[in-house]
Amino acid sequence: MKTLTNAVISVLMSAMVLPLGAEAKEGVKVDHLGINNTLVRVEGNSHYLLLPVQEANDDARINVLVDGDLAKTIHVRLAKTKVDYFVPFDLTPYKDKELILAVVTSQDRGTVREVKDDACWKNMCLSDTFDTTNREKYRPAFHHTPLYGWMNDPNGMVYKDGVWHLYYQCNPYGSKWQNMTWGHSSSRDLVNWQHHAPAIEPNGLGTVFSGSCTLDKANTAGFGEDAIVALYTSADLSQVQSLAWSNDGGESFDIYPGNPVITLESEARDPNMFWDDRQNAWVLTLAHALDHEMLIFTSPDMKEWTLQSSFGQGLGSQDGVWECPDLMEVEVDGSGLKKWIMICNINPGGPFGGSATQYFIGDFDGKTFTPDTDENGQVVTKWLDYGKDHYATVSWSNAPDNRHTIIGWMSNWQYAAEVPTQQFRSANTLPRELSLFKAPDGMIYAASAPSPEVTGLRDKLVRSSQKLSVGKKGQTFALPTANDGVCETLMDIEAKKGSKVDIELKNNAGERVVMTYDPSARTMSFDRRESGIVDFSQDFPAVTVAPTFETEGKVSLRIFIDRSSIELFGNDGRFVMTNLVFPTTPYTHIAVSANGGNAKITNLKIYSISSK
Ligand code: FRU
Repeated sequence: MKTLTNAVISVLMSAMVLPLGAEAKEGVKVDHLGINNTLVRVEGNSHYLLLPVQEANDDARINVLVDGDLAKTIHVRLAKTKVDYFVPFDLTPYKDKELILAVVTSQDRGTVREVKDDACWKNMCLSDTFDTTNREKYRPAFHHTPLYGWMNDPNGMVYKDGVWHLYYQCNPYGSKWQNMTWGHSSSRDLVNWQHHAPAIEPNGLGTVFSGSCTLDKANTAGFGEDAIVALYTSADLSQVQSLAWSNDGGESFDIYPGNPVITLESEARDPNMFWDDRQNAWVLTLAHALDHEMLIFTSPDMKEWTLQSSFGQGLGSQDGVWECPDLMEVEVDGSGLKKWIMICNINPGGPFGGSATQYFIGDFDGKTFTPDTDENGQVVTKWLDYGKDHYATVSWSNAPDNRHTIIGWMSNWQYAAEVPTQQFRSANTLPRELSLFKAPDGMIYAASAPSPEVTGLRDKLVRSSQKLSVGKKGQTFALPTANDGVCETLMDIEAKKGSKVDIELKNNAGERVVMTYDPSARTMSFDRRESGIVDFSQDFPAVTVAPTFETEGKVSLRIFIDRSSIELFGNDGRFVMTNLVFPTTPYTHIAVSANGGNAKITNLKIYSISSK
């Protein structure tokens, strides 16, 4: 398999920034054609042209001309007054060809003389390596992240021959949303990820938005037996649905020449398909984003699709666009009863502002999804995660052992582009197993517990305690000192009504996260208002609240603390809270205390996690 390695460049990137007024580097010839227009001629056969980025700038449009023909267009925030970082432009496809980057900027310059001084021209340089070494303190130790640059939705997840493929929305040319491309990582255990070259790149139909992959076991599309077939949104002025397939185990894709296979008159995206044995046909859910509904199509071959029904208008949260659907059949808590879950990610309109994953439980007859109603005949809005940073969650297709393995983007559109990282932006949640359970209110809900493979992250048991009784003063435990304290903490809490149990993470800078279990209200809350750096967005400081779906005053918690995120799983994932945090220095202690009566803490365990 072809993989990108963490090649280390000999000189530190920052040391490469030239002072203003210097000449362009060897092999890079710059001709200015006016205040907005510049030609960059690239000579020689290096691997990369490194492009200098200044994030605060507008995007420059770069037409890539190969032997005079337009090969592609990319958008890059080229540096004006300072270089924040470099991004690599891969030159290998253009070996021995005449390569010109025709650049149109909106740098707001009055004269060509001023343009010439812009930092981008003299810092662009050729290199055979690109440094992806992680030096950022908020880069997660045990969550999937891109090697560099921006990432949003997980896409096209498919399991084949022991490998979990994870494609994702990425920008190969910067750490903000742009140039949407399918990045690609793979794993044999869902926690150690290998990075691959981008799998699907923009073409004449547009950039590559979210979508799904499936295994075409019976070769219904004619792309080959067991081909991995991708259906994704091509996004330009409009959004249409495109097919691509891979015959090399998901490494590279051929684009179907008959694209697009679905066109509509208004925004529709994020196609998600599965094979339905009952009708020997493919079923597709497609987000009819602005109409706040999901469309359901069927097809014999993934090329010809017939619209069967729509679901969602007037239901659930209607405050934002509907995106990234998923539809699957899941057994209810080992009861033999099977129900269908329709996942409808929405943005904004989440319970704590911005993006969130909404779902409905019901029945699906192959054409129409019918949601369950409560005792008053109402369709209830349900949420898969009660934090602020869990979005675009969908499942792996062809997962082994009938598993419903899901993963989400661990951020929120409200501030994803502003979080205090730069070399990369965003991580995915831990992989989770979706299941259904009957709650005390008699309705069926979805649980999502960490996938079994996540247990393999545990390193040393650094603290354990069988039984404790905590009151107001509480008990404090040190988190592991190695690896910035990243860890998994488990505990079972039993508390009487009227008392409240606080679990507090704290560091030496006085920053803290407070998670509170309230057995009377049957809620768990998560307060990150004083968690560290919170001022990059007014939407970041927040308290999120989850129902605990229990009546006995007992919760069993698994809390995963990474360098910039906390995931709290309660009662095997019956309630989950995923929230980002940016402590200026790592949390060092966890304190458990109870107000309004003592609480019993049993099976407390703290496991360190080593970096992957
Ligand atoms: C969801 C989303 C999708 C779209 C993609 C674009 O986060 O808006 O609807 O396909 O991101 O990057």
